[in-house]
Order: sequence, then structure tokens, then C-alpha cells
Amino acid sequence: MEIARQKLAESPSARFDAEILLAHVLESSRSFLYANPELELTHKRAEQFKKLVKRRALGQPVAYLTGSSEFWSLPLRVTPAVLIPRPETERLVETALERIPPEADWRIADLGTGSGAIALAIASERQKCEIHATDISPAAIDIARDNARQLGLGHIHFHCGSWGEPLQGKFHLVLSNPPYIDADDPHLRQGDLRFEPETALTPGPDGLDAIRQISQFAGSVLLEGGWLMLEHGWEQGTQCRETLASAGFVEIRTLRDLQGHERVTLGEKD
Ligand SMILES: C[S@@+](CC[C@H](N)C(=O)[O-])C[C@H]1O[C@@H](n2cnc3c(N)ncnc32)[C@H](O)[C@@H]1O
Repeated sequence: MEIARQKLAESPSARFDAEILLAHVLESSRSFLYANPELELTHKRAEQFKKLVKRRALGQPVAYLTGSSEFWSLPLRVTPAVLIPRPETERLVETALERIPPEADWRIADLGTGSGAIALAIASERQKCEIHATDISPAAIDIARDNARQLGLGHIHFHCGSWGEPLQGKFHLVLSNPPYIDADDPHLRQGDLRFEPETALTPGPDGLDAIRQISQFAGSVLLEGGWLMLEHGWEQGTQCRETLASAGFVEIRTLRDLQGHERVTLGEKD
């Protein structure tokens, strides 16, 4: 374990990473490691652990190495075909749940679903809602569908296509955590982002492009009094509010994440 920690020294979470990888190799949990500090690894498992540590030391995200991530306390399968769900996105889920009554049978769209994180979190809390989730990536849709099956959440309809294109009918709520980083942002070439799908991170040269398209679509399919809720970059609050206003939304406001950054903007269909 000490050698693993040294190899991972460049990672800000070296000890945590090493423990997660070791627990993964042992098919157990981190608490199992603490309860069994004298445990000896078999040769096969030691080799498997060394390989994972080497890949982590090269920068590969821990979630891709273990093939799993947690969101809204739900265990999700992830591969390099999908974005690793972020804790900030739970703010979007909380905001949605504050407005969806517990027994509501709303029609809800999650655009750019990736691993299915947002759609699955809402589905796990609101059994009577009809949830539609889209993604441009067929590989992402396969993973999201698989996650829904594993979690026994059957009331989600998955569609492959661009934003709302594959959907029909009116909706009470449209949600999205779209790609919002400018294509020339140097952060895309740093840390975990280097390994995540480019289409999940950037819509192209203008980071607001997807936000504009989704706002236009939502304006045309939301029922009167329905809501659009979008996650965005911490410096995009003002532009996002302007985009929603020019798409005809009212009651527009932006909420902050736990770091105090503007993160979720919502608006009501007039
Ligand atoms: C930032 S990721 C969010 C994934 C997931 N919703 C989450 O929060 O973890 C953006 C997602 O949008 C998808 N995407 C990009 N362009 C799209 C488009 N034109 N239509 C639908 N989905 C798109 C990407 O494939 C990716 O899964």
C-alpha cells in the first residue's frame, strides 16, 4: 500500500485512490481494508493492483479503473464512453425534487443523460413520473439503459439522438447538464478531463451553444408553468439567465453549489 501511495503521489487523493483500487481488487469495501490491516494479497491480486496503480499514476480516473461511480447514493456503471457524474450535479437533482410533488405523474426530459445519473436519481425518488432521457452517443445510451436495469428503475425511456429531437409531446420539466466548456479551454487537457469523452465536455468553440439549443427546445415543449433547469459553468450564470430570458422564460434564478459558485439556472415557461 505504501508503494502504491508513493506511485500515486501526484494525485491529490493518493491514499484514497489507493484504497479504492485495492478494495476493488479484493471485491470489497474500504472499511474491509481497515478491519483487516494484516491481509496478504495473492500473487494474482497483487499484480492486478499494481497494474491499476500504474494506470492511475498515468492519470486515468479511478472511476474508469473500477468501472463504477456513485451518484445520489446510486451505484452506477461508468466507462470512458460517459462522463463521470459529479457531486455538483446533485444540486440540479435537488432543485428538481424541490419542485416535483411526491405523487406527481409529470413528464420529464433529461437531455444528454450520459451514464443516466440525473434521470436515475429522479426516477428513484419519483416513481410515478414518466422520464425520457436522450443522448447523442449510442454507447452512453447503452450504459444508461444498463444502469436503469441494474437498479430496477423501469420507468425511464431512453432515446438516442440530439437533445430533444427524438422526443414527442409536452413536458412538465426539462433538465440538462450539457457540455459547457469552450473547446479551447486549457482545462480540457488537464487531469481527469483528458480521459473523458470530448462530446460530454464541450459543445465546440462556444461553451454556451448547447445551453442555447436546449433552451430553445424547452421553450417549445414545456407546458405552461413547466420548468427548465440547467447546470452550467461557474462563470456562465449571467449568460445563462440572458439565454433563458430571450427564450421567453420567467421567474429566472441561479442557484449556487456547495463551493458557492453559480451552478444551476432555472426558469418557468410563461
Ligand atoms: C456533461 S455530460 C452530462 C452527463 C450526465 N447527464 C451527467 O450529468 O453526469 C453531457 C452529455 O451530453 C451528451 N451530448 C453532447 N451533445 C449532445 C447532443 N447534441 N444531443 C444529446 N446529447 C448530447 C454527451 O454525450 C454527454 O453524455
